Amino acid sequence: MFDAKLKEAQDAIARALSDRMAGLGADRVAEGMRYATAGGKRLRGFLVLEVARLTGGDAGAAMQAACAVECIHAYSLVHDDLPCMDDDDLRRGLPTVHRKWDEATAILVGDALQAFAFELLADPVTGDGDQRSELVATLARAAGPRGMVLGQAQDIAAETAATPLTLDQITELQANKTGALLDWPVVAGAILGRADPAPLRRYARAIGLAFQIADDILDVEGDVEKTGKALRKDAGAGKATFVSLLGPGAAKRRAKALIDEATAALVPYGPEAETLKQLARFVISRDQ
Ligand code: IPE
Ligand code: IPE
Ligand code: MG
Ligand code: MG
Ligand code: MG
Repeated sequence: MFDAKLKEAQDAIARALSDRMAGLGADRVAEGMRYATAGGKRLRGFLVLEVARLTGGDAGAAMQAACAVECIHAYSLVHDDLPCMDDDDLRRGLPTVHRKWDEATAILVGDALQAFAFELLADPVTGDGDQRSELVATLARAAGPRGMVLGQAQDIAAETAATPLTLDQITELQANKTGALLDWPVVAGAILGRADPAPLRRYARAIGLAFQIADDILDVEGDVEKTGKALRKDAGAGKATFVSLLGPGAAKRRAKALIDEATAALVPYGPEAETLKQLARFVISRDQ
């Protein structure tokens, strides 16, 4: 049962994160880090665990990498919500970090989560020296100026662009903004299992794009109670999305086609990849 598996992973990741952060103390930045990493669907962490399982990677190392990517993701959300970015007051059903404390705290909590993620990856429990350096290098690339940060910059620039972005430009923006941090878990799982990540990256690329399309559709059609964040803001903010360009109907068809593509990429893995297949379906059927 997919829901039960996801819930089990969510609980295990939450326990692992609180264990890893236990030594951080009770200062405001540490409290903010715990606050910002609580809750969420944990899809990126779940993907690391699942791909490591599929490729025979060590489960303890995979949990460490799952915590690392959830820290990077949480940092990206804390900064995404800042007044100078998307200016949001609600995240995961609670006040955003800058609303609960202040902007300086939110900036520092994001900075600290980013550094902490790499500390987790560099720890000997995450694998041998080669595995750790590969994990660090690939996550730095996914999160940084050729990945998530570039995508966030493209997203913000598009708000004031003189002409609407083309389909290719939106695809590139979303691949950077959201795709890179959904691709990394697959790469990380394969590094831990010493497997070739190429076939699984086709899966990851497809679900990454579908995931952001689903997020953009939720902005239009979702329920604030379920998503735990403010909705119906993208159009007013001038965000460049598949929904803004194609409308919700065509965007949904595109997301569905991407999920079929993701599922096709899993064929070589047989029944062992069933959970990943269900995860792909969850990405576009979710209401949160
Ligand atoms: C939200 O990501 C931000 C996007 C990349 C669209 P998630 O929908 O995975 O957020 P959480 O972790 O479940 O809160
Ligand atoms: C955020 O995309 C992507 C990252 C944080 C990298 P959105 O701005 O669409 O995410 P939400 O809707 O605020 O969760
Ligand atoms: Mg944003
Ligand atoms: Mg946002
Ligand atoms: Mg959004």
